[in-house]
Amino acid sequence: MNTRRSIIVLAVIVLMLAVAYGCSRAASVKEKTQESPMQPNSALVGRQASNFNRDWKFAKGNLSGAERPNFDDSSWQSVRLPHDWAISGPFNPKENGYAGKLPWRGVGWYRKTFKLDKANEGKRVYFDFDGVMAFPKVYINGQLAGRWDYGYMAFRVDATPYIRFGGVNVIAVQADTRQHGTRWYPGAGIYRSVTQVICEPVHVAHWGTFVTTPEVSDATAVVRIRSTIENHLDTESKTTVDVVLMGPDSQVVAMGGKGDTVPADSSREFDLSLKVANPQRWDITSQQLYTAKTIVHVDGKILEMDVTSFGIRTFQLTANDGFHLNGRRVQLYGVCLHHDHGPLGAAFYTRAMERQLEIMREMGVNAIRTSHNPPASELLDLCDRMGFVVWDECFDKWDGTADRINGKPPLEEYGEKQIRNLVMRDRNHPCVVVWSIGNEIGNQPYDREGKSPQRVKFMSDFVRKYDPTRPVGMACHIPNTVDEPILDALDFTGWNYMRRYARYRESYPDKPIIYSESASTLSTRGFYELPLPALKTDFSQKTHHVSSYDLNAASWSDIPDSEFKLMEDDNFVAGEFVWTGFDYLGEPTPFTQQARSSYFGIVDLCGMPKDRFYLYRSYWRPDTTTIHILPHWNWPDRVGQNMPVFVYTNGDSAELFLNGESLGRRTKGQQPEKPANFAQGKSATASSIESGNTATNAVDADRDTRWCAVDGTKGQWWQVDLGEVRSVKYLAIDFEKEAKNYGYQIKASTDNIKWQTIVTKKTSRQPRWGGPTQQFHEVNAQARYLRIEFTDLQDGAWASIREFAVYPEKVESDYYAVTYKYRLRWNDVIYKPGELKAVAYKNGKEIGYAVMRTAGEPATIRLTPDRKELQATGEDLCYVLVEALDDKGTLCPLAENMVQFKVDGPAEIAGVGNGNPLSLEPFQANYRKLFYGKAMLILRTIEGKTGLVKITAESDGLKSAETTIQCK
Ligand code: GAL
Repeated sequence: MNTRRSIIVLAVIVLMLAVAYGCSRAASVKEKTQESPMQPNSALVGRQASNFNRDWKFAKGNLSGAERPNFDDSSWQSVRLPHDWAISGPFNPKENGYAGKLPWRGVGWYRKTFKLDKANEGKRVYFDFDGVMAFPKVYINGQLAGRWDYGYMAFRVDATPYIRFGGVNVIAVQADTRQHGTRWYPGAGIYRSVTQVICEPVHVAHWGTFVTTPEVSDATAVVRIRSTIENHLDTESKTTVDVVLMGPDSQVVAMGGKGDTVPADSSREFDLSLKVANPQRWDITSQQLYTAKTIVHVDGKILEMDVTSFGIRTFQLTANDGFHLNGRRVQLYGVCLHHDHGPLGAAFYTRAMERQLEIMREMGVNAIRTSHNPPASELLDLCDRMGFVVWDECFDKWDGTADRINGKPPLEEYGEKQIRNLVMRDRNHPCVVVWSIGNEIGNQPYDREGKSPQRVKFMSDFVRKYDPTRPVGMACHIPNTVDEPILDALDFTGWNYMRRYARYRESYPDKPIIYSESASTLSTRGFYELPLPALKTDFSQKTHHVSSYDLNAASWSDIPDSEFKLMEDDNFVAGEFVWTGFDYLGEPTPFTQQARSSYFGIVDLCGMPKDRFYLYRSYWRPDTTTIHILPHWNWPDRVGQNMPVFVYTNGDSAELFLNGESLGRRTKGQQPEKPANFAQGKSATASSIESGNTATNAVDADRDTRWCAVDGTKGQWWQVDLGEVRSVKYLAIDFEKEAKNYGYQIKASTDNIKWQTIVTKKTSRQPRWGGPTQQFHEVNAQARYLRIEFTDLQDGAWASIREFAVYPEKVESDYYAVTYKYRLRWNDVIYKPGELKAVAYKNGKEIGYAVMRTAGEPATIRLTPDRKELQATGEDLCYVLVEALDDKGTLCPLAENMVQFKVDGPAEIAGVGNGNPLSLEPFQANYRKLFYGKAMLILRTIEGKTGLVKITAESDGLKSAETTIQCK
């Protein structure tokens, strides 16, 4: 085309586009009221792309013949997608909690009858599934039209050959989770959206547009648009592809076009580069989104328009200075998120996800890891729009739970097809900054299906084949992986927990690191237990809840404060992704048998913040006022006893008052004084000594030195002489390996002749990844000599001690020293009911105060909806917080009242919950017991039904509550 002609053609196109786009806008607005919005990332015009979620029938069971068009489904349940057949329960209390105790294993069928106008004859008909759990088979009019083998992956089914144009059609989908491998609750059924696409035989391929920005400066950006056009005709097609770029303000900023022939029954890529002047950057702080409109036309007739949203931004993942976005260092304050939505199960609702992100943003999160699988595509639309960067992940443990059955198909084939769909679907999103080919995969040859240099290479090369612009990595957990060249092919590596990246950093000093999982701190919202734990793994066997003082973590992980400090010290690391932002169904460590949902979340399963939320907020949002007091102040059984109080604040100090009386001012960084260690610097002997690792190394106050026996034989001992008889109350031992490797007895003597056994400790299970740990013993002895005799050693451990300390009173583990840097702690408060008040200061100036009061008996219910106006789409949600208050309006933190709900008007109950990981009450019910004073009611709108919804909550003995919302 000569320049003049091309300008004229483009002008005409823009005009046509305005008309077409006007129509499309109207169409999508209309669609919104009928069905939920289409994926804004690839809205299509000139083709009909419609939400296909309504009017399905569902039945559970391996039903023979259910794919046949004339199969009688009249008795089946009517459902609207997204649908998770297992979330309604019932729970199986006997089952282990790893997958939520819910009935997700089995076969389910979905059917839907639909018509297609005769006028569509000759067009292509596709069904785009964003995720079906699991192994879906899709039948059209009784014939198998497509299938997929990974429950988390989006896929397209070409229905064209099976469609009856002008007639009635039946789509039937079988979902079969029996072979699905999992470490958490996966859900079951068509749990994400389905879109029906009808288009001309010449059209943009599925996920066929790829927009990149190879050059970006303040003055210009080069935007490259590659569109693959498919031609399903048996003649070649002379096709023109025009691209119009629109700025964030919807004004045209650049355009261009190209003509070429697409061979019969084939496809061709059209590659265009356009310049955009003064590009506005997409950033986590400013979500400027451009759109590329790819218009396909043949002989002046527009066949379709593919609309792709994209962002212009630069980023680098560096080896020595973390992550840079648009030229500045951005510390990743990330969270890992599982795919479920608590009481809604795996069924994906855009609003549920948006709310999750709102809650995380409020806490200061700027990065999301989609652990450990491809997310719903709408999650990425939301992250583009709300300003989060995303670690987009393909698999959890391809050697275990990534759905291949008995190693079939071979990983190379399976990996490519899953990675292809993930990358092609998600690569235009500016929010996506790194790809992950997997999480925590074992190493070959120990793990036959595990990672090897060759496997990591081909998997990461698949990503590069479909997107060469972003770094590829994976999340690792085995430090000695670096002894082999397994990770060579990756651009960066994520490391999970306990600074396991240390060896990688030495071996690969030029490769970036992300702390892909941190914390795994554990707690139950509202539950506190005393005494405070001596060890991070001291869990309450009495209640099967984990104390909310935020001092407990899994044995392989740490409390938030340790991770804050680590990220400050190792600022070459790009930042952390906390495990996890939200509690999720399944993996209820440490009570895997008793509970059905996790304790890891910073907020509970319903999105109600645990105390930790405020610790993160205070640290991640230093300029926003946070003053949070814990625990609650209703301790009728502890009057006159010790009740530690912590304050989480972005201030640097605070003064605490109890009933108006000052309990002193604390400043971050101030450590409480410790009593003298009687053993420090004293003389020590041992049964045997490995060269250089002398007995006195265990009392030299240096944790880097140790005493070690000459070999791993039992019966080794180590002994200290305190110099004089002491009253001994507390022993702290730092072991070389995890403490559970060592079985031992501790003996005390005043004269080195007569010995009394004061501690007997057995080994427990074999550890795998733990490093040195401490062990504490409360004792009561008069002793000058203390001797530790090793009776049992596991995991090849040799008897060894880094430090042995002897105290006249209980002391807190050094492990918790770091908490004084990030929290303010009053450990010695004596409880009396009334009012706690914390007045916080920053740089000497008061920034505010918080109050915690003792509540009286529950008197009334309060209902607080998160939104008052909803869309009548059938997929919009309202979260109503339910709380018990006393007669003065104070939250009753121990209330467990049963609350009944009534909903009048155009909305229905989508779920109820209360954040209790042990609760086996159904998630779909019109009642819920409060848990530590709170519960959540989730309402869903009904498609096309507008009006006022009245919600009533009643509970015996309490004043009932009422609230309203409006559906539009
Ligand atoms: C990690 C794993 C996660 C989760 C977590 C719990 O090692 O990658 O998927 O299991 O532990 O702490």
